[in-house]
Amino acid sequence: MKMHLLRSNTKQFIILFSCFFLLHNTDNVQAQPRQQCFDTGNYTSNSQFETNLNILLPSLFSNGTRDGFFNTSVGAGSDIVYGLVQCRGDISTEQCQTCLNTSTVEITQRCPNRKKAAIQYEFCMIHYSNTRFFSQVDTSPFALFNTGQVSDADANRYNQQLAGLMTNLSNTAASRASRYDSGSTDFTDFNDIYSLVQCTRDLSPTDCFSCLQSMITEIPICCNRSEGAQIFSTTCYLRYEIYPFVVIPSQSSPPPAPSADTSPPESNTGDGKGNSTNVVVIVVPIIVALVLSAICSYFILMRIRRNKKKKIPELIYEQDEMRSEDSLQFELNTIRTATNDFSDANKLGEGGFGAVYKGELLDGQEIAVKRLAKNSGQGAQEFKNEVVLLHKLQHRNLVRLLGFCLSGEEKLLIYEFVPNRSLDKYLFDPTRKAYLDWERRYKIIGGIARGLLYLHEDSRLRIIHRDLKAGNILLDEEMNAKIADFGMAKLFGVDQTQGNTSRIAGTFGYMAPEYALHGLFSVKSDVFSFGVLLLEIVSGQKTNNFHLSGPSRDLLSYTWKLWREGNALELMDPTLQDSFTGNEVMRCIHIGLLCVQENLEDRPTMSSVVLMLNSYSLTLESPKAPAFISETRTVANNLNIDLESNNSTSSSLLYSVDGMKTNPT
Ligand SMILES: *[C@@H]1O[C@H](CO)[C@@H](O)[C@H](O)[C@H]1NC(C)=O
Ligand SMILES: *[C@@H]1O[C@H](CO)[C@@H](O)[C@H](O)[C@H]1NC(C)=O
Ligand SMILES: *[C@@H]1O[C@H](CO)[C@@H](O)[C@H](O)[C@H]1NC(C)=O
Ligand SMILES: *[C@@H]1O[C@H](CO)[C@@H](O)[C@H](O)[C@H]1NC(C)=O
Ligand SMILES: *[C@@H]1O[C@H](CO)[C@@H](O)[C@H](O)[C@H]1NC(C)=O
Ligand SMILES: *[C@@H]1O[C@H](CO)[C@@H](O)[C@H](O)[C@H]1NC(C)=O
Repeated sequence: MKMHLLRSNTKQFIILFSCFFLLHNTDNVQAQPRQQCFDTGNYTSNSQFETNLNILLPSLFSNGTRDGFFNTSVGAGSDIVYGLVQCRGDISTEQCQTCLNTSTVEITQRCPNRKKAAIQYEFCMIHYSNTRFFSQVDTSPFALFNTGQVSDADANRYNQQLAGLMTNLSNTAASRASRYDSGSTDFTDFNDIYSLVQCTRDLSPTDCFSCLQSMITEIPICCNRSEGAQIFSTTCYLRYEIYPFVVIPSQSSPPPAPSADTSPPESNTGDGKGNSTNVVVIVVPIIVALVLSAICSYFILMRIRRNKKKKIPELIYEQDEMRSEDSLQFELNTIRTATNDFSDANKLGEGGFGAVYKGELLDGQEIAVKRLAKNSGQGAQEFKNEVVLLHKLQHRNLVRLLGFCLSGEEKLLIYEFVPNRSLDKYLFDPTRKAYLDWERRYKIIGGIARGLLYLHEDSRLRIIHRDLKAGNILLDEEMNAKIADFGMAKLFGVDQTQGNTSRIAGTFGYMAPEYALHGLFSVKSDVFSFGVLLLEIVSGQKTNNFHLSGPSRDLLSYTWKLWREGNALELMDPTLQDSFTGNEVMRCIHIGLLCVQENLEDRPTMSSVVLMLNSYSLTLESPKAPAFISETRTVANNLNIDLESNNSTSSSLLYSVDGMKTNPT
């Protein structure tokens, strides 16, 4: 009993603080609504459609405020406009009114002239369209996650409790007329999990349930272990946090059993029904909270003044996730200023698709700008779509794409700046390579493997890199590997894993034979490149110019020769003599050889590679002979090639197995 009391007191305390932080920070989140300006047509100024929209919006505001929900249409025929507004189920009428006021005014500013648009604020949402969308469920999720993560130790319990809570809430919400429910569940001694779910009220219970299910399914994909997240489509919404961001009607008892879907909600602010115990439980903390707030405000204000950049991690959302195409766009002038007008002094290097410049934005953020070659064939919309998709990829081992700039002939990609240049600058430099001791190299190998695994399997998009090489691995301050250059990555729908291309873009020495010769690429061609890269890291030798220093013609055949003779450790870079761990090096060479096997079926997937790197108890298969691919003409090292296959790509390459040269068939 005592224990329990103590526990709930701790919780109360945490709650007070959370409330306090919440007060100070929700504006942050709220200030960035998710807007969707659909590109399904524009209306012209002074048209009948505009007139109808101008009648619709105030009526959505006034009628929506009353009940927290309203849908209607104005006009007829081709000028008809349908609209819907809804407030979050737990907020007050005043908050609802304020939010709807903002939303009905802002929507025409944020999406000028669009025939269809939707905006989601923290407390309300608005959606209008020239076609009828009522009762139609939208199950495509959009996620915003809290960057705080629960610890390894708590992860399993967290996932379990969260899943249970979500199932309970979505069941109840779907069966209620309000299509809303909120609740909390135990997590640790210090935190509970709080959550709310809501559908727009025009959805049927079945559609509401399936909409919420789609959002819930997204949780492990977008937000595994995040301390909070908001996931929504235009028709439903869920949010959870480990602090009480939402008023839960009766915290001590389980949510009321779903009643039949008959009685309309008495009020959308279903929070005023707490029993008297709850009133005391709420009022006392509120008074204490006010006093505490005053004291805390003082200290926090002082602190903020001292350190403006201080963050309060619990509430920092990945705001970028919310950015639409428009807000990913940078002005050309901003980038010109940041890069000293693309001055040579700012140039970091020249990649396959254009030069890369270092820049600094006015707020001090360092960026890397890739200036794409003028004729890089994509249309503007295609380009934007691709950027929006790539922007969503977020992983510790991937270079982050921040946005783009499109202006006349200029096409720019803006990336986070990674301080330590690329891996090749260290690995193949006689003096700097000494800095890469075995521990660092091993960490880099692991990082690349995890980044690639994310691209292949864990991200929502399935991405094949197609030009993985030492020059595309950047190193941060702590020598963590970050994979760069998704410029060539083709974007796939979830279950497409292979493709055929007439354009071959990649780097000799890293290309899998089926790709170099036949333009066939798949996750397994990336695995091949990864294997080559791994062997380069172990040997400190460049695959392309191996013949200059090695006893054999290329890295793969040399490795294979040593392996068969039982002398694989000889492959190791001599500078590692003092730092290497024999079995780790051997295992890496072994995995490298498995990755470069000729038959793509024999090559492991990246998830097995990650597993093999992590688990020493796993016995590895014996590798079969690697695919040897060499190039007979002189091609400058590291040069990106981009050839049309009908331009006799195949005949310019010789394909040889185990030293025996043959012509490709
Ligand atoms: C509508 O207008 C926007 C700019 O206001 C433009 O980007 C978009 O392409 C237009 N859509 C159509 C279908 O004309
Ligand atoms: C909604 O509110 C407006 C006032 O802005 C009112 O004139 C109108 O009758 C209401 N519409 C409906 C369908 O109730
Ligand atoms: C609002 O949506 C409901 C559910 O689809 C529909 O039955 C109703 O007719 C709509 N109201 C108006 C005024 O269109
Ligand atoms: C809506 O917002 C505007 C500007 O913030 C304000 O002047 C107006 O009074 C608000 N209207 C209502 C009804 O709240
Ligand atoms: C879900 O509801 C069931 C039945 O009311 C209850 O036993 C369970 O504890 C709930 N789970 C969570 C995580 O709230
Ligand atoms: C989510 O995290 C848990 C615990 O760390 C892990 O077991 C699980 O595999 C992760 N799920 C996904 C989809 O990554």
